[in-house]
Amino acid sequence: MEVIIVPNAQEGSDVAARLVARQVREKPDSVLGLATGGTPCKLYQLLARMHRSDHLDFSRVTTFNLDEYLGLDPAHPASYHRYMEENFFSQVNIARGHIHIPDGLAGDVAAHCVAYERMIRDAGGIDLQILGLGSDGHLGFNEPGSSLASRTRIKTLTERTRCDNARFFTNPCDVPHHVITMGLGTIMESRMCLLLAFGSGKAQAVAASVEGPVTASVPGSLLQFHTRAKVILDAEAASLLARAAYYQWVYKNKPEWQTDL
Ligand code: GLP
Repeated sequence: MEVIIVPNAQEGSDVAARLVARQVREKPDSVLGLATGGTPCKLYQLLARMHRSDHLDFSRVTTFNLDEYLGLDPAHPASYHRYMEENFFSQVNIARGHIHIPDGLAGDVAAHCVAYERMIRDAGGIDLQILGLGSDGHLGFNEPGSSLASRTRIKTLTERTRCDNARFFTNPCDVPHHVITMGLGTIMESRMCLLLAFGSGKAQAVAASVEGPVTASVPGSLLQFHTRAKVILDAEAASLLARAAYYQWVYKNKPEWQTDL
């Protein structure tokens, strides 16, 4: 796990955008795993800007989103379909047929989840998975207690997550209880994971994920088992890390041969 601490969310999003851009330039038909929520908004803006001004080409890229609320129409203002359309897909030249987001209106949810997993496999697996972190340590919508081997499936949100996400809904009571999410096992099969966390509200979950024991009680901690996970934090999100100074030294003093940013 590489921990990258930068002063603020803007710089963290810059680092993440450079990594995603490099992935897409090196492998134009990359498969990207995408996240929603407040955290990756700036990252999507930067990628859209790179598309407009630096010819970053998404035409051969395939995407799989982590999750979606069950029961929300794609046109609902708080749906992740709508979020992705507004924040990213409408801003870049991605081919419509290459976009995959779990269907919140799927009639047969179990069959839909199996098909989603199959589509990820058929696409060759996810090259780079962007992740945010819930204040309770969740990844995607894998709430604490989720099986560490889980696959795409239906999950029930905790009250804490429903409250955290209420800001995206006109009426807080409308936050659905149920969602479809890629599983932790699905996420762990991505060839690279890029976890972003900004703000003091994430500090506890970050410390537990990065320096605590690996446990289903903190889904983010599973990334300690990933061979290529980068955690990009602003100063506030990193504020409870015991080894913050060490991570910062390592990042600033990377030997030249370590071209990995
Ligand atoms: C939501 C999403 C996650 C996201 C997390 C953090 O529940 N399902 O994918 O990473 O919450 O959200 P935010 O970035 O808004 O803090």
